[in-house]
Amino acid sequence: MRKKIVAGNWKMNTLPAEGVELAKGVVAGRGEVCSCVNFIVCPPFTHLSMVAEALKGSDIELGAQNCAAEAKGAYTGEVAASMIAALGCKYVILGHSERRQYYGETSATLNKKMEQAYANGLTPIYCVGENLEEREAGKHFDVVKAQIEEVVYNLTEEQFKNLVIAYEPVWAIGTGKTATADQAQEIHAYIRKVLAEKFGAAAAECPILYGGSCKPANAAEIFAKEDVDGGLIGGAALKAADFLAIGKGFQK
Ligand code: PGA
Repeated sequence: MRKKIVAGNWKMNTLPAEGVELAKGVVAGRGEVCSCVNFIVCPPFTHLSMVAEALKGSDIELGAQNCAAEAKGAYTGEVAASMIAALGCKYVILGHSERRQYYGETSATLNKKMEQAYANGLTPIYCVGENLEEREAGKHFDVVKAQIEEVVYNLTEEQFKNLVIAYEPVWAIGTGKTATADQAQEIHAYIRKVLAEKFGAAAAECPILYGGSCKPANAAEIFAKEDVDGGLIGGAALKAADFLAIGKGFQK
């Protein structure tokens, strides 16, 4: 049985006090959702310790949205994986399309970040996904395959057991356009096949999340698909009620 995961990527939103309120709202309503669903919230770095405090006593886990490629030292403005782990993070989002697009993150950088994450006991939520042009040209399978081969294929079998993948088509992020449930299933199944080519049976255990305008109204249909194990939620994670309602989308 694969883990069912609903992870909130708050991006660069909320002030610290608002983030604490949001986390408290998720904690307060969590009981309404099946305990089989694993909730993760990923606030900005500045909020991590306060949100960790707000989550205490609940089963909601904490993640960061990024980490440095280096362990420590003279890297002004960077935040090390060891630092976020020390604040209680269990997860770190890596390779989000916004990081690839706006901050020039390449597979070479991501390989180093993945190493840092594992060295500090964090589970990476590794994001893959094509842009609109690539989708329209029918290249989406090749794009995600390369994103997996160049980074995930470098993991050891042990590391791979602690990995979450998020498929996020760039054209669906923050646009209100969602991939159809069938489109999601098609590419999730493909991703699992690419993972199986390297890691064999362990690929069946790897959670693959869908991300991109996922909301309460479409979560159930998408999560019902065999190879969709949950969602990485942006906009809809900023309201506790919506975030929790997405968790209720699991019917299986
Ligand atoms: P969205 O973002 O839900 O606002 O589309 C998802 C993401 O980028 O993780």
